[in-house]
Amino acid sequence: MQSKPRLLVTRRFPGAVMERIGRDYQARHNPGDRGLTAEELGELGRGCDALLCAPGDALDARGIAALPASVRALATFSVGYDHIDVEAARTRGLAVFNTPDVLTDATAEIALLLMLGASRRAWEGQRMLRAGDWTGWTPTQLLGRGLSSKRLGILGMGRIGQAVARRARGFGVEIHYCNRNRLPAEREAGATYHAAPESLLGVSQIFSLHCPATPETQRFLDRERIALLPPDPIVINTARGAVVDDAALIEALRSGRVAAAGLDVFEDEPDVNPDYLSLPNAYLLPHLGSATVEARNAMGLLALDNLDAFFAGREPPARVV
Ligand code: DGY
Repeated sequence: MQSKPRLLVTRRFPGAVMERIGRDYQARHNPGDRGLTAEELGELGRGCDALLCAPGDALDARGIAALPASVRALATFSVGYDHIDVEAARTRGLAVFNTPDVLTDATAEIALLLMLGASRRAWEGQRMLRAGDWTGWTPTQLLGRGLSSKRLGILGMGRIGQAVARRARGFGVEIHYCNRNRLPAEREAGATYHAAPESLLGVSQIFSLHCPATPETQRFLDRERIALLPPDPIVINTARGAVVDDAALIEALRSGRVAAAGLDVFEDEPDVNPDYLSLPNAYLLPHLGSATVEARNAMGLLALDNLDAFFAGREPPARVV
């Protein structure tokens, strides 16, 4: 009988995923539940054929170089793979897999939650209530801004951007988007296409980021681009912290140039820029985009489908490299 592939499991994954790992792989587990450093990847990965990894693992060029020669594949428990130096992996001959599709709905839901939470001042309301500071209803208390009839600008109209658009239409929002390629009419569903991000920014009363973090999108939303937004915009980020220039957004939230922001992702997570924490108009979540039982189970099972196919000599369902 062929021996089971040896797998370094860098995180504590959902139960059904752990069970399948136990059944089909010889697993070595990270004793903790935090991302591994390059040194730890080298150490714990010794003798392993593949990694089941996640955002937070240091799979940059140094981490990839530290991996033992036995490692042939990286399956990340995420759709995003900006934590992996894909070129370094390719050069080394490593296969890389991710988990698209299965977290689309969950992430779109969080984008809508952020839109509502930021525009309707949900955090300020919660805080007032829980602190015992609510003295009763008044006609002018915590007035937010409605979504209905607003223009929503979506940067990156991939699977998640489209899922956000579908849901936002239910709130009476008018959809605008910018994408590398214009979508076919049936998927555009009446949305207005902007070939240039600057044109999209100019109409976006709500601006939602859905592009991957790449060298091209690094700090995309900076002071100059914020200045292009219409008055009192709401900024939403469920993509990656790296696509926003924190200093510029914080300054704009402080001055009121941006009315509110809903943020699920941050540069240098979990070290959130402390200035965000004191801003009442920043509605903040700790990277919960895909955090549903359904999505996280499906992500783990897809990550294992990728590895199973790889070791069986079949084409994995979601290959990056
Ligand atoms: C991803 O999959 O890239 C998310 O950010 C983690 O859920």
